[in-house]
Amino acid sequence: MKNLEIFEESEKYMPGGVNSPVRAFRGVNLNPPVIKSGKGVIIKDEDDNEYIDFVLAWGPLILGHCDEDVVCAIQETSSKSIAFGAPTKLELDLAKFICTSVDNVEMIRMVNSGTEATMSAVKLARGYTNRKRIVKFAGCYHGHFDGFLIEAGSGVMTGGIPGSLGVPNESIENTLIGIYNDENQIRELFKEYGNEIAGVIIEPVAGNMGVIKAEEDFMETLRELCDTYGALLIFDEVMNGFRVAFKGAQSLFNVKPDLVAYAKIMGGGLPCGAYGGRKEIMENLSPLGGVYQAGTMSGNPIVMAAGLATLTKLKNNLSYYDHIENIGIKLQEGILSISKKYNLPIVMNRVGGMMTIFFTELKEVRTYDDVKKCNVDRFNRYFEHMIKSGINIAPSQFEAVFLSVKHEENHINIFLKTFEKFAAAEALRNLS
Ligand SMILES: Cc1ncc(COP(=O)(O)O)c(C=O)c1O
Repeated sequence: MKNLEIFEESEKYMPGGVNSPVRAFRGVNLNPPVIKSGKGVIIKDEDDNEYIDFVLAWGPLILGHCDEDVVCAIQETSSKSIAFGAPTKLELDLAKFICTSVDNVEMIRMVNSGTEATMSAVKLARGYTNRKRIVKFAGCYHGHFDGFLIEAGSGVMTGGIPGSLGVPNESIENTLIGIYNDENQIRELFKEYGNEIAGVIIEPVAGNMGVIKAEEDFMETLRELCDTYGALLIFDEVMNGFRVAFKGAQSLFNVKPDLVAYAKIMGGGLPCGAYGGRKEIMENLSPLGGVYQAGTMSGNPIVMAAGLATLTKLKNNLSYYDHIENIGIKLQEGILSISKKYNLPIVMNRVGGMMTIFFTELKEVRTYDDVKKCNVDRFNRYFEHMIKSGINIAPSQFEAVFLSVKHEENHINIFLKTFEKFAAAEALRNLS
């Protein structure tokens, strides 16, 4: 069966033909390719088209597709242990590895997705503080937990409006909306609700409104407010963890989180998640404490083995991060110079191996309001051109381009050449 045939058949059996909405390419008005294989940074669809992949399963595959060590770990483990629902040594190995490799995580609980990790971290914060309100920032995505699904709108919002049908107002009435990188607004929010706030959850390097790094002063303000009012600061490192640096986004700031949520890279491409923090907080989880959170598949041995193989390889080869930084610089400089040559207004934000080209007349993009001013029609033309030329990027202006250790200079050169054709076409379009 060919791409289109499979996708149309899929639409009969799965809503939108997919198991996660953005995969359907509805925002860019195209049909998605149906992918059958991947090796390194090359993926192949059912029509045998090849693409250089800059999506990497939405971030996890920092070692590229089917890395030999990860595949070997999966194969070896699956031949003797698929699932037990009992303690295993592999769980200990990964838990100990993470706790001893990153800062501020003394104890950790494994779960099965990023959503589960952030949702459980918030529950723990509520249980620990015995408070109910949480703060999330407009433009940050923390998974599909009801309490996070709030359409943030512009301006200061202290109450939520559901961003999804099926989310009762009761589920979000305790979610306060913060404005990313806006110190005054968050101070005002704490002035009004501070004694009721259990925790503040943030993507320290936002990736779900395009890439925007939180500013140091802003992060310090969050820490100060959480300390003053007794709330917990939760870093959602589902996307950032082991990506923006081996020790994650927390190593980029002089601010310590109380809890950290992980997923994506920590599972080597398999379904995974985890949340951790200070022992004194984590010990409130059942069976030691009263916060109940459980999972049949949590700590699955194959996932643990894939995660351990990935993280061990990264830790043993920290120069991978230099490689990613270097090709990231090459890509960024190339894009900026092409844009200048063709008079194509853009802002490019990059932190290590995650970046976004914002099609905007603005000089900088540092807030969610800035993001909302981007030229989405231009993005859609760019996306169609790139994918039809064999460059796989996420089908949204508000997502990140990801780099892996397997991307080489030649892949970056092809990206740049393809981008130049798009910029030239846009320049012609402006003339006509
Ligand atoms: C920052 C962040 N948090 C949480 C999630 C939810 O993770 P999952 O899709 O594994 O549930 C995502 C997913 O992309 C994410 O980017």
